[in-house]
Amino acid sequence: MYHLSLCSQTRISMTITQRRPRLPEVALPAMNRVHAEELALLERLARTLEAGDEAGIDALLAEFSEHMEAHFAGEERRMEQAAFPPYPMHRAEHDRLRAELSEVRERWARERDPEALARWFFGDYCDWLETHVATMDHVTAAFLAARGME
Ligand SMILES: [Fe+2]
Ligand SMILES: [Fe+2]
Repeated sequence: MYHLSLCSQTRISMTITQRRPRLPEVALPAMNRVHAEELALLERLARTLEAGDEAGIDALLAEFSEHMEAHFAGEERRMEQAAFPPYPMHRAEHDRLRAELSEVRERWARERDPEALARWFFGDYCDWLETHVATMDHVTAAFLAARGME
């Protein structure tokens, strides 16, 4: 029993990290590129979690946070420039995820629990990203593209 629980702490179940979000293309190529980069980071995170590489996870979490910030800030800058009316709603969704990621990182720093980390990234976050890109990003990109933004 002790042996089993020890194993589950050092190795995560690889089924958790199998999930990949399916992201529809939106009307702005620059947004699609950023989304593809985020998927590539998720791919690297999956492999790092599967390998149980804690230092690698720390580094990737920092990289992922930076990328998420640039992703969200880039969309927010365009929405402001184009005076996109539902900007506050879209921004609020980004802010909710910023807060969640920062909580997830604090919890990781405290508990070093790779299962919990994997469950958030390959469960909650993948769910959120699929819905967000298919709804808010989709509508936003169509609005921006119709105004000649790139
Ligand atoms: Fe996006
Ligand atoms: Fe967005």
